[in-house]
Amino acid sequence: MLYVMEACTMADEVDMVTLNLDDDNRVVIHMFGATVISWICGGKERLFLSSTSLFENGKAIRGGIPVVFPQFGPWKLGPQHGFARISMWDLYSKKIADGRCSARFILINNEISEAMWNYKFKLIYDVTISKTNGLSCSLSVTNQDSKVFDFTTLLHTYLKVDDAETVTVSNLQSLKYIDKLKNGEEFTESDSLLKVVNGIDRIYKSTPATQEVFGCVDGSTVIVSKNGLPDTVVWNPWAEKARNMSDFDDDGYKKMICVEPGFVVERVILQPQEERSFTQNLVVTK
Ligand code: BG6
Repeated sequence: MLYVMEACTMADEVDMVTLNLDDDNRVVIHMFGATVISWICGGKERLFLSSTSLFENGKAIRGGIPVVFPQFGPWKLGPQHGFARISMWDLYSKKIADGRCSARFILINNEISEAMWNYKFKLIYDVTISKTNGLSCSLSVTNQDSKVFDFTTLLHTYLKVDDAETVTVSNLQSLKYIDKLKNGEEFTESDSLLKVVNGIDRIYKSTPATQEVFGCVDGSTVIVSKNGLPDTVVWNPWAEKARNMSDFDDDGYKKMICVEPGFVVERVILQPQEERSFTQNLVVTK
């Protein structure tokens, strides 16, 4: 059912869905990967999207919020970070109610997914924008097979920042992390506010439900909250790696930080007919 409110409109272009709360608050989702590619909040873009992102088959969109499923990182059965972010999803419904706009996307097993990962599954992805609760992205996974399966998943959120050198992230102190830039060795975070120095690629284990990212657009703070996602990956490729990626602006690393809520250290195990939900919420504060 579609509820219509005057102050909230929706417009669709080919392969894209736009949810408009008003001129200053809207979100755009690309059907390729059900990737949120733009989030305007308070009149400003809050997500980083590389201008050289390829938007072509087989290659994930470089920026926004790609959905990682059923594998975070390299995968012996298929591409890094799995197939969800490089699959065309279906738009199932759009809803406008109570000052919120939302869209629901669906991906079910198909020939391409089965060639890599031979299970029947259903992914439902709800993207909701509201003035009071910001941007919410909620993924639910249902096992529609007769056999158990396991997976890892993550929302690969690229936040736009003023200057990556001055960005800091809270609520990671004293936590254990795997440093992918140091042969996957485990360390304990000593800093109360994490800084990105010459690049970072870490998996923080069992993180609190909320991280604050200070130094986002125009000095704003983005609060990243999560539910059902125990871990947080923090990534910035820095100069040399960015240069070596054909879809990453050479200077783009200065304008982004990925803070990625995920279920990646352990694997999620789903019994036949079982369903599990994973949610990220982004709110901008000054
Ligand atoms: C991060 C990983 O989540 O994604 C990094 O921790 C990886 O190791 C990065 O380099 C980007 O991955 P991709 O496949 O989008 O280039």
